[in-house]
Formats: sequence, structure tokens, C-alpha cells
Amino acid sequence: MSRVRKAVFPVAGMGTRFLPATKASPKEMMPVVDKPLIQYAVEEALDAGITEMVFITGRSKRAIEDHFDKAYELEAELQARGKKALLEVVKNIVPSHVNCIYIRQMEPLGLGHAVLCAEPVVGNEPFAVLLADDLMDVCKGKPSVTHQMVKVYDKEHASILAVQEVPMEETKSYGIVSSSPWNKESERVNAIVEKPDPKDAPTNLAVVGRYVLNPQIFDRIRKVGKGAGGEIQLTDGIAALLNDQPVLAYRFDGTRFDCGSKIGYLKATVELGLKHPEVADEFASYLATLG
Ligand code: UTP
Repeated sequence: MSRVRKAVFPVAGMGTRFLPATKASPKEMMPVVDKPLIQYAVEEALDAGITEMVFITGRSKRAIEDHFDKAYELEAELQARGKKALLEVVKNIVPSHVNCIYIRQMEPLGLGHAVLCAEPVVGNEPFAVLLADDLMDVCKGKPSVTHQMVKVYDKEHASILAVQEVPMEETKSYGIVSSSPWNKESERVNAIVEKPDPKDAPTNLAVVGRYVLNPQIFDRIRKVGKGAGGEIQLTDGIAALLNDQPVLAYRFDGTRFDCGSKIGYLKATVELGLKHPEVADEFASYLATLG
């Protein structure tokens, strides 16, 4: 069994890029075809064998708690109407052996701060972090991206960051790493910097929203002050961790959709719509008519 049993889902951001949709409802509840973004992320963690789901929530995030809770009235209604398939969908959002734990981040002080809020529940164990607005799609039957990273963790016992190359002009939207060869599947991170201007960026290798972290990260985050954008940055905590222990960069097998941006969200909707058994054929025919 893997040593990584817990996943942290920071969902307390403000989602300003999706206003007004995110004024009263969380960005992570936006659906791609028929499932909210947060459910894709939770399913990814489940695929990795993770059983403790820790959500760092904020204001107007109640819908996330409700989504993973039992819905008595809805279940009774579906039962009464004989809608068995839908009843199963609603009942099986998380298996019964899985625990969902909610922690409030009182103020959106940054991703690093959100991760630090999980410390009382995570304790002295390695843990995964999943940012639900990065939707990670893998081929059917293949291990999820978090599953791939947990496998690397179990061999290496080092913190792991999911990375991908991005166009140089986009470095200012990401944590950017420089790295050197480590083993067949990962590289060792030599340096990491948050949102550099393209002219200052050491590379175009960007960290995306999946991490497996050793618990020493908590102490490092506690010690870094406010960084880029006046927020407590996870990147700065990782930069401090690098001084004491190896941190690995992992080029995952899968496709990432940046659903925190409008264009990424639209691409995810089209790509996953074209794979959805219920609508794929009709949707493909429709798209073909657009020319
Ligand atoms: P983003 O940088 O994408 O910010 O946060 P955001 O608020 O979600 O979205 P925009 O940029 O305003 O549109 C990265 C991740 O960190 C979480 C967010 O929920 C998102 O998953 N986060 C960020 C927190 O949980 N707390 C924070 O204080 C900041």
C-alpha cells in the first residue's frame, strides 16, 4: 500500500477569472460535461488509492460540501421515480471508506497558506495536493496523474511536482523550475521561482496543479513571508525545501486543461464532450457542421 493516504484540495481561491460565474458559487463546482471540476480531482485521488480527502474551503464554497454529502431528499425522489441509474450516480460520488474533511481558510492569503491550513489533519505524513482547476485527462484504463506521482513517491520518498513545458511568454502565470537529470522518470529540481517574467525565467518548465509533498513543507511555508502578488506562495515553501532535500519534477502522462481560464475550460468541455458515451457522436456531428 502507498504511504500517500491523504490529498489536499485547496478550493478557497476567488476565481476572479471566471466572474461573474464565481460570484456566488465556487469555480470548482463548474461542470465539464456533467461533473464538477472538483469531482474529477477527487476521482483522480481515489484512483491513486487515497482515502482521506481534505478540502481547504472559503466563503461561498458550501456547494462543495453538499456535493460530497448524502442528499436524502434527492435520493428518495429518484428512488420513488424508479430512476435507478441516476440514483447510483448520486449515491456513489465517493465510496463509503473515504473520508471528506473540510477546513476553512479564513482569508485567501495564497496557495501556500491554504496548504498550511491542512497541517492539523495531514500531520507528519506525505500528502498529495490537487488544484481542481487543472483538469488532468488520461487515456481510459491508464493510471491518473496523481496515481503516477504517488508511484514515483513510493520509490523515491521525495516531494514531486507535476511539470510541463509552456510557451515562454506564459512563464508569468506559473512556478517555473530548472532541473537536472535524476532517474528515468523524473528530474531533480535545482531552483523554482514563482511567476517570472519571460526575460527572467530560467526555463519554460512550469509546475502545474499536482504535487506530492513531504510534511517538512509545512515548516518551510510557515517561515516564508508574503511573496509574488502579496500572497504566501507554495512555490516559496518548495524553494526553501530544496535546500534540505531533493525535490523532483515529473513530466506526467496525460493532458492538462487549465480550467481556471476561459479558453482552457472551453477546450476541456469540447474534448471531454467528444469522449462522453452519451453525447460523443451527436456532439461530433454538430461540431462538423460548424466547418
Ligand atoms: P489561483 O491562482 O488559480 O487563484 O489559485 P483563484 O483565486 O482560484 O483564481 P483567479 O486567478 O482569481 O481566477 C490556485 C489554487 O489555489 C487555491 C485556488 O482555489 C486554486 O485552486 N487558493 C488560492 C486557495 O485555496 N487559497 C488562496 O488563498 C489562494
